Amino acid sequence: MLRHLNASRNFKLMLVPALFAAGSLAQAQDAEAQFRKSCMSCHTIGAGKKVGPDLKDLGKRRPHEWSTKFITGPSAMIDGGDPTATTLLRENNGVKMPELGVTAAEAQDLLKLIDDYSAQGKTLGTAAISRPATPEDIRRGRLYFTGDLRFKSGAPPCMSCHRAQGVGGWGGGWLGPDLTGATAKYGTGLSGVIENPSFPTMQGVFSKTPASAEEAFQVAAYLKSVGSQPPAKRDVAFPVLGVIGLIGGMVLGGHLGRKRLKGVRKNLKPKARSLKPEA
Ligand code: HEC
Ligand code: HEC
Repeated sequence: MLRHLNASRNFKLMLVPALFAAGSLAQAQDAEAQFRKSCMSCHTIGAGKKVGPDLKDLGKRRPHEWSTKFITGPSAMIDGGDPTATTLLRENNGVKMPELGVTAAEAQDLLKLIDDYSAQGKTLGTAAISRPATPEDIRRGRLYFTGDLRFKSGAPPCMSCHRAQGVGGWGGGWLGPDLTGATAKYGTGLSGVIENPSFPTMQGVFSKTPASAEEAFQVAAYLKSVGSQPPAKRDVAFPVLGVIGLIGGMVLGGHLGRKRLKGVRKNLKPKARSLKPEA
Protein backbone atom coordinates (compact mmCIF):
# COMPACT_ATOMS: atom_id res chain seq x y z
CA MET A 1 0.00 0.00 0.00
CA LEU A 2 2.77 2.43 1.04
CA ARG A 3 4.74 1.49 -2.06
CA HIS A 4 1.73 2.18 -4.16
CA LEU A 5 1.28 5.70 -2.72
CA ASN A 6 4.93 6.58 -3.24
CA ALA A 7 4.85 5.38 -6.77
CA SER A 8 1.86 7.50 -7.60
CA ARG A 9 3.36 10.61 -5.91
CA ASN A 10 6.59 10.22 -7.86
CA PHE A 11 4.62 9.81 -10.98
CA LYS A 12 2.79 13.11 -10.37
CA LEU A 13 6.05 14.97 -9.63
CA MET A 14 7.49 13.76 -12.91
CA LEU A 15 4.37 14.88 -14.67
CA VAL A 16 4.65 18.58 -13.66
CA PRO A 17 7.73 19.58 -15.74
CA ALA A 18 6.52 17.34 -18.54
CA LEU A 19 3.24 19.24 -18.63
CA PHE A 20 5.03 22.61 -18.76
CA ALA A 21 7.12 21.50 -21.72
CA ALA A 22 4.03 20.07 -23.38
CA GLY A 23 2.25 23.39 -22.74
CA SER A 24 4.61 25.57 -24.80
CA LEU A 25 4.92 22.90 -27.46
CA ALA A 26 1.14 22.66 -27.66
CA GLN A 27 1.00 26.47 -27.98
CA ALA A 28 3.42 26.39 -30.93
CA GLN A 29 1.45 23.56 -32.50
CA ASP A 30 -1.83 25.44 -31.95
CA ALA A 31 -0.38 28.52 -33.66
CA GLU A 32 0.81 26.44 -36.59
CA ALA A 33 -2.55 24.68 -36.88
CA GLN A 34 -4.30 28.05 -36.79
CA PHE A 35 -1.95 29.47 -39.41
CA ARG A 36 -2.70 26.50 -41.69
CA LYS A 37 -6.42 26.84 -41.12
CA SER A 38 -6.92 30.61 -41.17
CA CYS A 39 -3.97 32.23 -42.94
CA MET A 40 -2.32 29.80 -45.37
CA SER A 41 -4.88 30.27 -48.14
CA CYS A 42 -3.51 33.79 -48.59
CA HIS A 43 -0.07 33.91 -46.90
CA THR A 44 3.09 31.86 -46.70
CA ILE A 45 6.05 32.30 -44.40
CA GLY A 46 9.08 32.42 -46.68
CA ALA A 47 7.52 30.62 -49.69
CA GLY A 48 6.46 33.71 -51.63
CA LYS A 49 3.47 35.98 -52.12
CA LYS A 50 -0.02 34.54 -52.52
CA VAL A 51 -3.15 36.69 -52.21
CA GLY A 52 -1.47 38.64 -49.39
CA PRO A 53 2.22 39.40 -48.70
CA ASP A 54 4.79 36.76 -47.70
CA LEU A 55 4.94 37.16 -43.91
CA LYS A 56 8.65 36.28 -43.62
CA ASP A 57 10.45 38.89 -41.49
CA LEU A 58 7.18 40.63 -40.67
CA GLY A 59 8.61 41.45 -37.21
CA LYS A 60 11.41 43.42 -38.91
CA ARG A 61 9.12 45.63 -40.98
CA ARG A 62 6.23 46.23 -38.51
CA PRO A 63 5.96 46.60 -34.74
CA HIS A 64 4.11 43.65 -33.14
CA GLU A 65 1.56 46.11 -31.81
CA TRP A 66 0.57 47.20 -35.32
CA SER A 67 0.44 43.60 -36.60
CA THR A 68 -1.74 42.49 -33.66
CA LYS A 69 -4.17 45.31 -34.34
CA PHE A 70 -4.27 44.46 -38.04
CA ILE A 71 -4.73 40.70 -37.58
CA THR A 72 -7.50 41.09 -34.99
CA GLY A 73 -9.36 43.83 -36.89
CA PRO A 74 -8.22 44.41 -40.48
CA SER A 75 -11.42 46.23 -41.56
CA ALA A 76 -11.15 48.87 -38.86
CA MET A 77 -7.54 49.57 -39.89
CA ILE A 78 -8.27 49.66 -43.63
CA ASP A 79 -11.51 51.65 -43.35
CA GLY A 80 -10.02 53.87 -40.67
CA GLY A 81 -7.39 55.05 -43.16
CA ASP A 82 -4.31 53.68 -41.37
CA PRO A 83 -1.52 54.74 -43.80
CA THR A 84 0.31 51.35 -43.78
CA ALA A 85 -2.95 49.42 -44.25
CA THR A 86 -3.93 51.75 -47.11
CA THR A 87 -0.60 51.21 -48.88
CA LEU A 88 -0.83 47.42 -48.38
CA LEU A 89 -4.34 47.37 -49.80
CA ARG A 90 -3.13 49.18 -52.91
CA GLU A 91 -0.16 46.83 -53.31
CA ASN A 92 -2.45 43.78 -53.04
CA ASN A 93 -4.92 44.60 -55.83
CA GLY A 94 -7.48 46.05 -53.42
CA VAL A 95 -8.22 42.63 -51.82
CA LYS A 96 -9.18 43.31 -48.21
CA MET A 97 -7.92 40.85 -45.64
CA PRO A 98 -11.14 39.40 -44.12
CA GLU A 99 -12.20 39.51 -40.45
CA LEU A 100 -11.17 36.12 -39.09
CA GLY A 101 -12.20 36.42 -35.44
CA VAL A 102 -8.60 36.09 -34.20
CA THR A 103 -8.12 37.13 -30.53
CA ALA A 104 -5.19 39.30 -29.39
CA ALA A 105 -3.65 36.30 -27.56
CA GLU A 106 -3.88 34.14 -30.68
CA ALA A 107 -2.38 36.95 -32.76
CA GLN A 108 0.61 37.10 -30.36
CA ASP A 109 1.15 33.34 -30.80
CA LEU A 110 0.88 33.68 -34.58
CA LEU A 111 3.43 36.53 -34.58
CA LYS A 112 5.80 34.43 -32.47
CA LEU A 113 5.40 31.58 -34.96
CA ILE A 114 6.16 33.97 -37.86
CA ASP A 115 9.24 35.34 -36.02
CA ASP A 116 10.50 31.83 -35.17
CA TYR A 117 10.09 30.55 -38.73
CA SER A 118 11.75 33.69 -40.15
CA ALA A 119 14.70 33.49 -37.74
CA GLN A 120 15.25 29.78 -38.47
CA GLY A 121 14.85 30.22 -42.22
CA LYS A 122 11.99 27.68 -42.21
CA THR A 123 9.06 28.01 -44.60
CA LEU A 124 5.36 27.33 -44.09
CA GLY A 125 2.93 27.01 -47.01
CA THR A 126 3.56 26.67 -50.71
CA ALA A 127 3.13 29.05 -53.58
CA ALA A 128 0.27 28.05 -55.90
CA ILE A 129 0.87 25.64 -58.84
CA SER A 130 2.24 27.87 -61.59
CA ARG A 131 2.24 25.74 -64.75
CA PRO A 132 0.00 27.15 -67.51
CA ALA A 133 -3.53 25.67 -67.50
CA THR A 134 -4.42 23.39 -70.45
CA PRO A 135 -7.90 23.05 -72.03
CA GLU A 136 -8.09 19.68 -70.22
CA ASP A 137 -7.50 21.46 -66.86
CA ILE A 138 -10.34 23.87 -67.65
CA ARG A 139 -12.65 21.01 -68.71
CA ARG A 140 -11.99 19.05 -65.51
CA GLY A 141 -12.31 22.20 -63.39
CA ARG A 142 -15.78 22.80 -64.79
CA LEU A 143 -16.79 19.20 -63.97
CA TYR A 144 -15.56 19.60 -60.37
CA PHE A 145 -17.44 22.89 -60.13
CA THR A 146 -20.74 21.34 -61.22
CA GLY A 147 -20.27 18.04 -59.38
CA ASP A 148 -20.10 15.88 -62.51
CA LEU A 149 -16.64 14.93 -61.28
CA ARG A 150 -16.41 14.39 -57.51
CA PHE A 151 -13.56 15.70 -55.36
CA LYS A 152 -11.45 12.81 -54.01
CA SER A 153 -12.11 14.03 -50.47
CA GLY A 154 -15.89 13.87 -51.01
CA ALA A 155 -16.32 17.67 -50.64
CA PRO A 156 -19.60 19.05 -52.07
CA PRO A 157 -19.41 20.67 -55.52
CA CYS A 158 -18.88 24.44 -55.64
CA MET A 159 -22.12 24.90 -57.56
CA SER A 160 -24.24 23.84 -54.57
CA CYS A 161 -23.35 27.22 -53.01
CA HIS A 162 -21.92 29.36 -55.83
CA ARG A 163 -22.69 30.67 -59.27
CA ALA A 164 -20.33 31.42 -62.14
CA GLN A 165 -20.80 31.97 -65.83
CA GLY A 166 -21.07 29.01 -68.13
CA VAL A 167 -22.33 26.44 -65.60
CA GLY A 168 -25.24 25.50 -67.86
CA GLY A 169 -28.90 26.49 -67.61
CA TRP A 170 -28.99 26.41 -63.81
CA GLY A 171 -26.81 29.37 -62.85
CA GLY A 172 -25.64 27.96 -59.51
CA GLY A 173 -26.25 28.31 -55.74
CA TRP A 174 -26.80 31.50 -53.73
CA LEU A 175 -25.33 30.77 -50.31
CA GLY A 176 -21.90 31.95 -51.45
CA PRO A 177 -21.03 34.87 -53.77
CA ASP A 178 -20.91 34.71 -57.58
CA LEU A 179 -17.41 33.54 -58.48
CA THR A 180 -17.25 35.05 -61.95
CA GLY A 181 -14.98 37.83 -60.72
CA ALA A 182 -12.94 35.64 -58.36
CA THR A 183 -9.92 35.55 -60.64
CA ALA A 184 -9.80 39.33 -60.90
CA LYS A 185 -10.00 39.49 -57.09
CA TYR A 186 -7.55 36.76 -56.07
CA GLY A 187 -5.34 36.50 -59.17
CA THR A 188 -2.97 33.53 -59.23
CA GLY A 189 -3.70 33.06 -55.50
CA LEU A 190 -7.18 31.72 -56.29
CA SER A 191 -6.19 28.03 -56.36
CA GLY A 192 -4.59 28.46 -52.93
CA VAL A 193 -7.81 30.00 -51.63
CA ILE A 194 -9.81 27.05 -52.99
CA GLU A 195 -7.38 24.48 -51.61
CA ASN A 196 -7.38 26.07 -48.20
CA PRO A 197 -10.40 28.39 -47.79
CA SER A 198 -10.44 30.69 -44.77
CA PHE A 199 -14.06 31.78 -45.22
CA PRO A 200 -16.09 30.62 -42.20
CA THR A 201 -18.94 28.89 -44.06
CA MET A 202 -16.69 27.11 -46.50
CA GLN A 203 -14.17 26.16 -43.88
CA GLY A 204 -16.84 24.23 -41.95
CA VAL A 205 -17.10 21.88 -44.92
CA PHE A 206 -13.67 22.03 -46.58
CA SER A 207 -11.36 21.80 -43.56
CA LYS A 208 -12.50 18.20 -43.17
CA THR A 209 -12.68 17.43 -46.89
CA PRO A 210 -10.22 19.75 -48.70
CA ALA A 211 -9.81 19.84 -52.47
CA SER A 212 -6.32 18.66 -53.52
CA ALA A 213 -3.81 21.16 -54.96
CA GLU A 214 -4.39 19.70 -58.44
CA GLU A 215 -8.20 19.82 -58.13
CA ALA A 216 -8.06 23.39 -56.81
CA PHE A 217 -5.75 24.40 -59.67
CA GLN A 218 -8.22 23.01 -62.21
CA VAL A 219 -11.25 24.70 -60.64
CA ALA A 220 -9.30 27.98 -60.58
CA ALA A 221 -8.40 27.45 -64.26
CA TYR A 222 -12.09 27.01 -65.06
CA LEU A 223 -13.08 30.13 -63.10
CA LYS A 224 -10.39 32.08 -64.90
CA SER A 225 -11.75 30.91 -68.25
CA VAL A 226 -15.24 32.25 -67.42
CA GLY A 227 -13.99 35.41 -65.68
CA SER A 228 -14.45 37.64 -68.69
CA GLN A 229 -17.95 36.52 -69.73
CA PRO A 230 -21.05 38.72 -69.11
CA PRO A 231 -23.21 38.18 -65.95
CA ALA A 232 -25.69 35.27 -65.86
CA LYS A 233 -29.46 35.55 -65.48
CA ARG A 234 -30.80 34.81 -61.99
CA ASP A 235 -32.30 31.41 -61.29
CA VAL A 236 -34.50 30.75 -58.28
CA ALA A 237 -34.06 26.97 -57.94
CA PHE A 238 -30.55 27.10 -56.59
CA PRO A 239 -30.94 28.86 -53.24
CA VAL A 240 -32.88 25.76 -52.22
CA LEU A 241 -30.30 23.36 -53.65
CA GLY A 242 -27.58 25.44 -51.97
CA VAL A 243 -29.15 24.99 -48.55
CA ILE A 244 -29.55 21.27 -49.20
CA GLY A 245 -25.88 21.18 -50.18
CA LEU A 246 -24.90 22.93 -46.96
CA ILE A 247 -26.98 20.62 -44.79
CA GLY A 248 -25.55 17.63 -46.65
CA GLY A 249 -22.06 18.98 -46.02
CA MET A 250 -22.77 19.51 -42.34
CA VAL A 251 -24.23 16.02 -41.94
CA LEU A 252 -21.22 14.57 -43.73
CA GLY A 253 -18.84 16.68 -41.59
CA GLY A 254 -20.58 15.62 -38.38
CA HIS A 255 -20.38 11.99 -39.41
CA LEU A 256 -16.67 12.17 -40.18
CA GLY A 257 -16.06 14.07 -36.92
CA ARG A 258 -17.79 11.37 -34.89
CA LYS A 259 -15.83 8.62 -36.58
CA ARG A 260 -12.57 10.41 -35.85
CA LEU A 261 -13.55 10.93 -32.19
CA LYS A 262 -14.29 7.25 -31.82
CA GLY A 263 -10.85 6.44 -33.18
CA VAL A 264 -9.26 8.83 -30.69
CA ARG A 265 -11.17 7.32 -27.79
CA LYS A 266 -10.15 3.84 -28.85
CA ASN A 267 -6.51 4.93 -28.88
CA LEU A 268 -6.74 6.65 -25.51
CA LYS A 269 -8.10 3.72 -23.53
CA PRO A 270 -5.12 1.34 -23.50
CA LYS A 271 -2.77 4.28 -22.81
CA ALA A 272 -4.79 5.40 -19.80
CA ARG A 273 -4.56 1.89 -18.43
CA SER A 274 -0.80 1.64 -18.95
CA LEU A 275 -0.26 4.97 -17.13
CA LYS A 276 -1.59 3.61 -13.81
CA PRO A 277 1.37 3.05 -11.51
CA GLU A 278 1.97 -0.62 -10.79
CA ALA A 279 1.48 -1.66 -7.14
C1 HEC B 1 -8.46 35.93 -47.88
C2 HEC B 1 -7.03 36.26 -47.80
C3 HEC B 1 -6.36 36.48 -46.45
C4 HEC B 1 -6.39 35.71 -45.32
C5 HEC B 1 -7.20 34.45 -45.09
C6 HEC B 1 -5.48 36.31 -44.38
N1 HEC B 1 -4.91 37.41 -44.93
FE1 HEC B 1 -3.51 38.61 -44.05
N2 HEC B 1 -3.54 39.83 -45.66
C7 HEC B 1 -4.28 39.64 -46.82
C8 HEC B 1 -4.08 40.76 -47.72
C9 HEC B 1 -4.70 40.92 -49.09
C10 HEC B 1 -3.18 41.63 -47.07
C11 HEC B 1 -2.66 42.99 -47.55
C12 HEC B 1 -3.49 44.09 -46.91
C13 HEC B 1 -4.85 44.18 -47.54
O1 HEC B 1 -4.92 44.33 -48.77
O2 HEC B 1 -5.85 44.10 -46.79
C14 HEC B 1 -2.87 41.01 -45.77
C15 HEC B 1 -2.00 41.57 -44.86
C16 HEC B 1 -1.58 40.96 -43.69
C17 HEC B 1 -0.57 41.48 -42.79
C18 HEC B 1 0.27 42.72 -43.00
C19 HEC B 1 1.47 42.26 -43.82
C20 HEC B 1 2.55 43.27 -43.96
O3 HEC B 1 3.40 43.07 -44.86
O4 HEC B 1 2.58 44.22 -43.19
C21 HEC B 1 -0.46 40.59 -41.76
C22 HEC B 1 0.46 40.70 -40.57
C23 HEC B 1 -1.40 39.52 -42.02
N3 HEC B 1 -2.06 39.78 -43.20
C24 HEC B 1 -1.57 38.42 -41.22
C25 HEC B 1 -2.53 37.43 -41.42
C26 HEC B 1 -2.76 36.34 -40.50
C27 HEC B 1 -1.96 36.07 -39.24
C28 HEC B 1 -3.79 35.61 -41.01
C29 HEC B 1 -4.46 34.41 -40.39
C30 HEC B 1 -5.03 34.59 -39.07
C31 HEC B 1 -4.20 36.25 -42.28
N4 HEC B 1 -3.41 37.35 -42.47
C32 HEC B 1 -5.21 35.78 -43.12
C33 HEC B 1 -5.09 38.56 -47.10
C34 HEC B 1 -5.43 37.56 -46.19
C1 HEC C 1 -21.34 24.84 -48.39
C2 HEC C 1 -21.39 25.92 -49.32
C3 HEC C 1 -20.14 26.22 -50.13
C4 HEC C 1 -19.45 25.38 -50.97
C5 HEC C 1 -19.76 23.92 -51.28
C6 HEC C 1 -18.39 26.16 -51.56
N1 HEC C 1 -18.42 27.44 -51.06
FE1 HEC C 1 -17.16 28.98 -51.56
N2 HEC C 1 -18.08 30.21 -50.23
C7 HEC C 1 -19.23 29.89 -49.52
C8 HEC C 1 -19.67 31.06 -48.77
C9 HEC C 1 -20.90 31.14 -47.88
C10 HEC C 1 -18.72 32.10 -49.04
C11 HEC C 1 -18.71 33.53 -48.48
C12 HEC C 1 -17.78 33.60 -47.31
C13 HEC C 1 -18.24 32.75 -46.14
O1 HEC C 1 -19.17 33.12 -45.45
O2 HEC C 1 -17.68 31.67 -45.93
C14 HEC C 1 -17.75 31.51 -49.97
C15 HEC C 1 -16.66 32.21 -50.49
C16 HEC C 1 -15.87 31.76 -51.54
C17 HEC C 1 -14.84 32.54 -52.20
C18 HEC C 1 -14.49 33.99 -51.90
C19 HEC C 1 -15.34 34.84 -52.79
C20 HEC C 1 -15.09 36.32 -52.65
O3 HEC C 1 -15.76 37.07 -53.38
O4 HEC C 1 -14.23 36.75 -51.87
C21 HEC C 1 -14.30 31.75 -53.18
C22 HEC C 1 -13.20 32.13 -54.16
C23 HEC C 1 -14.98 30.47 -53.12
N3 HEC C 1 -15.93 30.51 -52.11
C24 HEC C 1 -14.74 29.41 -53.98
C25 HEC C 1 -15.33 28.16 -53.88
C26 HEC C 1 -15.01 27.04 -54.75
C27 HEC C 1 -14.05 27.08 -55.92
C28 HEC C 1 -15.76 25.97 -54.31
C29 HEC C 1 -15.71 24.54 -54.81
C30 HEC C 1 -14.41 23.92 -54.67
C31 HEC C 1 -16.57 26.44 -53.20
N4 HEC C 1 -16.29 27.77 -52.96
C32 HEC C 1 -17.49 25.66 -52.51
C33 HEC C 1 -19.88 28.67 -49.51
C34 HEC C 1 -19.48 27.53 -50.19
